[in-house]
Amino acid sequence: MGESGRGKAILVGPMGSGKSTVGRALAQRLGAELVDLDAVIVERAGRAIPEIFAAEGEAGFRDREQAALEEVAARPGPLVVATGGGVVLREANRRTMAANGTVVYLRADVETLLERTAGDANRPLLQVNDPRAKLEALQAEREPLYRQAHLIVDTPGRTAQEVAEEILARLDSADPGAVD
Ligand code: S3P
Repeated sequence: MGESGRGKAILVGPMGSGKSTVGRALAQRLGAELVDLDAVIVERAGRAIPEIFAAEGEAGFRDREQAALEEVAARPGPLVVATGGGVVLREANRRTMAANGTVVYLRADVETLLERTAGDANRPLLQVNDPRAKLEALQAEREPLYRQAHLIVDTPGRTAQEVAEEILARLDSADPGAVD
């Protein structure tokens, strides 16, 4: 895959699309390091995501997210990067991702997202009365941004291994930034 051996696969998609689990499977297959962007944010902030939202608001979290993305994008590859669902909101982030790797959109329907995120207290945006409506609204806003990815891969009904296999097979023919 690729020629430089320094590429990055950057996974984007909504909460519950499987970015972390697919990222783990993909990194293992590639022999690449996995970086979880949310984990970088938490480490730098010294507090958990719900606490960042509570203390600094969503805007504070987005500033931290952008800084973490820029930091990770500057690291040498090969890397697999699992992002948070809202990373695509800022145009600067979309540019950073597209310029530094192959961006892969993990697509899933709202029903699947709802099942995979049920009862998770670590996602402040879903601590609402009607998480289904929230996921639908977020998806309506973000889907056009996710679709700017180099690759789009469907995840419902498939294991992380199967999804990782498809990504691997398609990285070859994707952007020259492909992971090696
Ligand atoms: C968010 C998704 C979360 C996390 C934060 C905000 C979002 O990451 O970054 O809670 O805006 O969709 P996951 O997609 O890994 O749950």
